[in-house]
Amino acid sequence: VETDYGEPHRPRFHFSPPANWMNDPNGMVYHEGEYHLFYQYYPDSTVWGPMHWGHAVSTDLVHWEHLSVALYPDSLGYIFSGSAVVDHRNTSGLGKEGEAPLVAIYTYHNAERERAGHDDYQYQAIAYSHDRGRSWTKYAGNPVLPNNTGLRDFRDPKVSWSEAANQWVMTLAAQDHISFYGSDNLIDWEHLSDFGSDLGSHGGVWECPDLFRLPVKDGDDSKHVLLVSINPGAPNGGSGTQYFVGNFDGTTFTLDPAFASDVTNERGVWLDYGRDNYAGVTWSDVPESDGRRLFLGWMSNWNYANVVPTETWRSAMTVPRVLTLHQTPAGYRVFSQPVAELETLRGSEFAVAEMEGNQPAQPATDESAALAFPAPASAEVKLRYSIEPGSQARFGLELLNEDGEVYRIGYDAAKGHYFSDRRAAGDHSFSDAFTGTFEQAPRISDSGELSMHLLIDRASVELFADGGATVVTEIFFPSTDFNRMRLFAEGEGVRLLDSQGYTLASIWPE
Ligand code: FRU
Repeated sequence: VETDYGEPHRPRFHFSPPANWMNDPNGMVYHEGEYHLFYQYYPDSTVWGPMHWGHAVSTDLVHWEHLSVALYPDSLGYIFSGSAVVDHRNTSGLGKEGEAPLVAIYTYHNAERERAGHDDYQYQAIAYSHDRGRSWTKYAGNPVLPNNTGLRDFRDPKVSWSEAANQWVMTLAAQDHISFYGSDNLIDWEHLSDFGSDLGSHGGVWECPDLFRLPVKDGDDSKHVLLVSINPGAPNGGSGTQYFVGNFDGTTFTLDPAFASDVTNERGVWLDYGRDNYAGVTWSDVPESDGRRLFLGWMSNWNYANVVPTETWRSAMTVPRVLTLHQTPAGYRVFSQPVAELETLRGSEFAVAEMEGNQPAQPATDESAALAFPAPASAEVKLRYSIEPGSQARFGLELLNEDGEVYRIGYDAAKGHYFSDRRAAGDHSFSDAFTGTFEQAPRISDSGELSMHLLIDRASVELFADGGATVVTEIFFPSTDFNRMRLFAEGEGVRLLDSQGYTLASIWPE
């Protein structure tokens, strides 16, 4: 079946599956010049079902080649989320002579055992590949980590090599906390410690963790970051990803003292305040010469993922992002920025605002001032404002279409929060949760200069504010593509300093 990338709502520069249902990114690993992206996939329907791992590869993080399904469910269960590593020293013994195999570590979800009333229906298993991930063999001794915990939620292993432990460490979601396991060979796993049952947000079940080290920007220190997705319980409803900053000593994860006051046993700190970035984790084995911590998430929300109005497929991924760690007025914070490779998609530059010298002629307030938006609707916009202390202004960018629908994203200085308003942005009949009020996306910078970097695709916006300090990822379903945009500003004390707009090319054949 040929995929029609022109069909309504199909993203132009975001990854989406050729057809049918997709959720979490899985098994992200860099290997022999290729970024692998596996994903939770149900190839028989556009709703969630028995999970497989779909597969795609990219050499530039921008263009993706679809490959055939990598892992099929079997008698041990559905193939739930997990990770992949290059076993450089062939510790598993699963490599052929002199070869470093790719090893995938995933959760089996055994629906039969669940129906039969057992609690141990999720357990961890591995598979390996000798041909650059094109074909996979499941390990004959699976499961490698059976479930003796009595916990029904026991899943989403993220494995990395720990220098401190001098062994593999598995970071696993265990209902309301994270469990760490260690192994010399990816096969025999030993429990190391637990973290988090009394910390961070617990509005829902913990899922899809990740653990990695990041240097502190402009310092000589580095810290560990622990990502934990939770559903429900996100700040603007449904699914979201919180994180913790601390130290992993090879056995135990401890919160950094400076971060400890930022989280309570109810409150978390969030990687993205939008409603549509879930289950994201980072690529393993990115070469040190590159040095980036590369992240990608599922651009949807369990509140409505199964019912969004797309016909032949469901869901897309966020753009790949670089994560960095900063000291801010609010404490340690993880910033996100789109990967620079995306700039290769830039086409013509267009004017976002009519400028007179360095002043906006007038923040556009009437319909006639709306600019023709390069169609089809995919673009990048960069806005830089000065904002006076005490300003109560509300300002940002509006997308409009021929059907009178409008999407608004921007900053509310009175609240000190960014906002996203998709209530009038098209179809939302499929779920009340889709148009619930958007309340939280705090600005953490106290600088007099505020910036918004926006990636706009046909059915989504990603906002990277203040250099990526606050991120808002949201999807929407306009009846026809947005084809105009305008800046709006209500209230005093804000001035547009600078703006740039670029059309962005599609990554798919058209
Ligand atoms: C997160 C999740 C994971 C699980 C997978 C099942 O979205 O619920 O915890 O492994 O999806 O598809």
